[in-house]
Amino acid sequence: MKFTIKTDLINKIPADIITLAVNDKNQILCGKQIDALTLKHLDNILKLGDLSNIIGSTLLIHSATKYSRVILLRIGVQADLTPKEFFKGIVGASKELNKINFTKIIFPINQFVNKLLTEQAATEYLVRALADQGYKINSLKTKNKPKPTNYEVYLHANKLATKEIKQGLKNGQAIAKGVDLTKDLGNLPPNICTPTYLASEAKKLARGYKMKITVLEQKQIEKLKMGSFLAVAKGSREAPKFIVLEHKKGPKNKKPIVLVGKGITFDAGGISIKPSQDMDEMKYDMGGAATVLGVMKTVGELNLPLNIIMVVPTCENLPDGKAVKPGDIVKSMSGQTIEVLNTDAEGRLILCDALTYSERFKPEVVIDVATLTGACVIALGHHISAVFSNYDPLADELKTAGEKALDPVWQMPMWDEYQPQLNSNFADMANIGGRAGGSITAACFLSRFAKKYNWAHIDIAGTAWKSGKEKGSTGRPVSLLSQFLIKRTKN
Ligand code: BES
Ligand code: MN
Ligand code: ZN
Repeated sequence: MKFTIKTDLINKIPADIITLAVNDKNQILCGKQIDALTLKHLDNILKLGDLSNIIGSTLLIHSATKYSRVILLRIGVQADLTPKEFFKGIVGASKELNKINFTKIIFPINQFVNKLLTEQAATEYLVRALADQGYKINSLKTKNKPKPTNYEVYLHANKLATKEIKQGLKNGQAIAKGVDLTKDLGNLPPNICTPTYLASEAKKLARGYKMKITVLEQKQIEKLKMGSFLAVAKGSREAPKFIVLEHKKGPKNKKPIVLVGKGITFDAGGISIKPSQDMDEMKYDMGGAATVLGVMKTVGELNLPLNIIMVVPTCENLPDGKAVKPGDIVKSMSGQTIEVLNTDAEGRLILCDALTYSERFKPEVVIDVATLTGACVIALGHHISAVFSNYDPLADELKTAGEKALDPVWQMPMWDEYQPQLNSNFADMANIGGRAGGSITAACFLSRFAKKYNWAHIDIAGTAWKSGKEKGSTGRPVSLLSQFLIKRTKN
């Protein structure tokens, strides 16, 4: 998909198709800028009442005089159109586009702009929505392989607003590239997307964007005494990796933002094995790692003037004669001992050592992203990720970024009252806290390793993946974290 900004009169832009916004009064908002015959034709069609009044509805029209097709998009009262409604509308329009065969489409930006939706924001949402819908799974089909989406989009801009539209396009495309990478990694099968594969992807980013890459191998991980991470890796024949990718484009003395991602490339549960129904989906248990890799791609594309460090502990969680067993007690890098009561609560076991490792960077903040708990899906469903934090201003910042990016998070409590659920008779703590508040006790477990800095944990078990007919990775929460970082460049 190619995007070009056009400032000529709409009438002068040759294209097969145009998207026209229709308000609550059935008026085509940029009617004055299209030719009279086409407008008349469209007005007649609108009079038939086939375009639903529901905001975001679309109607595809063929042979619309000047254009071979037109998409009419209901936006209601222009001044009241919200980013969420706009995004939904573009997703709908994009679904129509995916069904037809064309090469060039015009989107006049002006018709969507209001107080809630600047030129820049509208452009960014538009680009993101089209890229999201245009994404094709990197499938291994040998027949009927999905064809890449390769239409060209003309963003029609008011001359005065081209600078903002350029910025919106730049941000939108950079985010879309990050989202695409995250989706690709999540969708790959676990026999391809191994810890070694994730490390090679990180190396590619390092090469492409002049970042610093360190991949620690088993021996070095042992030297660091990451006993908890290594316990999980023990049951697998794939080599564990501990990946550190550093983008240092901020002021030299500015403390870095550390992004940690859970990189379980397959979670069978270990000895506490999962039921086999839908177990294939546990290939996306590296969704946190895929997210932070995707964010690093966006960061590289935008060359953000920030110091950002990505940390990914990655391995498989499998049952084996050598696997960690329920009852085993392991010693984490922090020195704290953990009784492993359930080997399926492995995410926290690899993350805790990554959190301790992150202390060495003297971070400004640490944010970890993980498909951590089924309990989170039960609590919040699939529409919103959970955020937990030991520093409320950071949680607030993430909430605001999520709203802006239309990739929201909901703050969950992490009160001390929950901590005793992790008590063990034999070690400093157990790795599970019972069924009650399962996503909260998981966060409480992590908090014990994040005492030295401001930290937030994002549980994406419900949002990183779609099951059912549209099974696949969603690319969340790349947009949220990208927005968070872009905003930070302005402070
Ligand atoms: N990777 C899973 C969490 C998960 C479940 C992610 C469903 C996405 C969808 C995690 O490692 C896990 O197995 N958690 C257990 C924890 C329990 C044993 C305390 C869970 O949620 O059941
Ligand atoms: Mn598990
Ligand atoms: Zn897991």
